[in-house]
Amino acid sequence: MKVIKIQNRAVRKLLKEMAEVAGFLWQRGWAERNAGNISVNITGLADEKNLFTEDHPFFKLETEYPDLSGKVFLISITGSHMRDLARKPKRNVLLIRLNEKGNGYWMALAGKDNPTGTSPTSELPTHLGIHQMIAQNGGNEKTVLHTHVTELIALTQIKEYCNEKKLNRLFWTMHPETAIFVPDGVGFVPYSTPGSQDIADETLKALENHKVALWEKHGVFAIAPGPLEAFDLIDILAKSAKIFFLVRSAGYDPQGLTDEQLKILKALADKF
Ligand code: 13P
Ligand code: ZN
Repeated sequence: MKVIKIQNRAVRKLLKEMAEVAGFLWQRGWAERNAGNISVNITGLADEKNLFTEDHPFFKLETEYPDLSGKVFLISITGSHMRDLARKPKRNVLLIRLNEKGNGYWMALAGKDNPTGTSPTSELPTHLGIHQMIAQNGGNEKTVLHTHVTELIALTQIKEYCNEKKLNRLFWTMHPETAIFVPDGVGFVPYSTPGSQDIADETLKALENHKVALWEKHGVFAIAPGPLEAFDLIDILAKSAKIFFLVRSAGYDPQGLTDEQLKILKALADKF
């Protein structure tokens, strides 16, 4: 397949940031085997109109994304490992450009062929659905990041916490940072088959009022302007869950912050 050499400085910087985040995911133990994926909307940064030609392979999509017409993304390759993306980002991501109708895309390699395959992530319906929602709302989020955060998945193995209200109360009361930097909390997505249109649809609902969607028994999806900011959102939530489990495994019930303390923190959140 044809390779597009990434020349643009801003895109190269973004690719570097994707690699940095991939390394963090691996180090945190959230990226077993090929777990996780990432996409970044680079429309407007590269010379996208001239980047792709008719010679590039074209793939039809099952769903139409009219608001993504002509948009260009860097997206992780299905089966690629985050530890590899950290070291060799160009070999582990693809460039895709949607056609005018938004019902298909041209694809190009960013580097040499990846031995694990050359298709975008199997979670493409969720990534594109989210980017389309952001485009419709005029949001500034360019990055969509999915990862398998052990502590967060563990929470969704407890029936009591498969409940958005309970989950968010837990996150906010375990650590002041969470109330300040993730003031909208997470949207809960009941279990559905990975890669399916169903899970994509449910994720969009969850992200209407949140920056993070927590997939029951699977992982999280976060949206943010850049890869590092998406990572930070997830990292803060993971910290809260970790504190909860640590106190529980020491044989205690966590006290949690009080309602009064939370109220003050939420007011602070408005200032950031
Ligand atoms: P991909 O390798 O297709 O990106 O899948 C990883 C994953 O986490 C699926 O949910
Ligand atoms: Zn996954």
